[in-house]
Amino acid sequence: MAPRKFFVGGNWKMNGDKKSLGELINTMNSGKINADTEVVCGAPSIYLDFARQKLDTKIAVSAQNCYKVAKGAFTGEISPAMIKDCGVTWVILGHSERRHVFGESDELIGQKVAHALSEGIAVIACIGEKLDQREAGITEKVVFEQTKVIADNVKDWSKVVLAYEPVWAIGTGKTATPEQAQEVHKKLREWLKTNVSEDVAQSVRIIYGGSVTGGTCKELSAQPDIDGFLVGGASLKAEFIEIINAKH
Ligand code: G3P
Repeated sequence: MAPRKFFVGGNWKMNGDKKSLGELINTMNSGKINADTEVVCGAPSIYLDFARQKLDTKIAVSAQNCYKVAKGAFTGEISPAMIKDCGVTWVILGHSERRHVFGESDELIGQKVAHALSEGIAVIACIGEKLDQREAGITEKVVFEQTKVIADNVKDWSKVVLAYEPVWAIGTGKTATPEQAQEVHKKLREWLKTNVSEDVAQSVRIIYGGSVTGGTCKELSAQPDIDGFLVGGASLKAEFIEIINAKH
């Protein structure tokens, strides 16, 4: 089994404008990025074409969401076909903000995963427990249930990266400890082995998200089942280059 290529995604969320994102893209293009890391930047929908046109092709671009069908009367939504039309090859789905701010159900997320993959768009599929769920000791139950809905909608795992993002660590500055993150990543890999296959379990990148910074990335990346990161706030700063190179 080939080693899993380190994967670092940046999630710009609803931030930036053409000026500031243009400056960030220039920093990314001129940064020393280790070729052994796969890098993807998640731009706001309105700037997908802008980002794709300006980012060096060594960096892929991701949408932050999409709908579950190709076209139709769905005001405000975007489709995987439109994402592809902009030369964009990834989409983040199931992000905790889509789940807990905008009320997306597991079922809808599963349908979006299936449709995006059917259109040839690769998926960063997000899962993660809330603080009260962790404190209640049901972290595994929650993330396994979320993962099952995603897995039920995946045929080609080579186009999927699983992102474990504990909700209590997102945007809080409270990063999961390497031990906390590794424990869940290991359990997720075991779940994939039992419920999908050994090959999938060994090949799928399971990345961590939740207050990753230049200061926390090295210790996290040293964990055997942490294959990279999904980064929010720090992806909007030059520090993102340090996180991309954490493994090297
Ligand atoms: O998708 C990544 C994001 O949710 C993590 O945000 O700001 O905690 O790195 P942040």
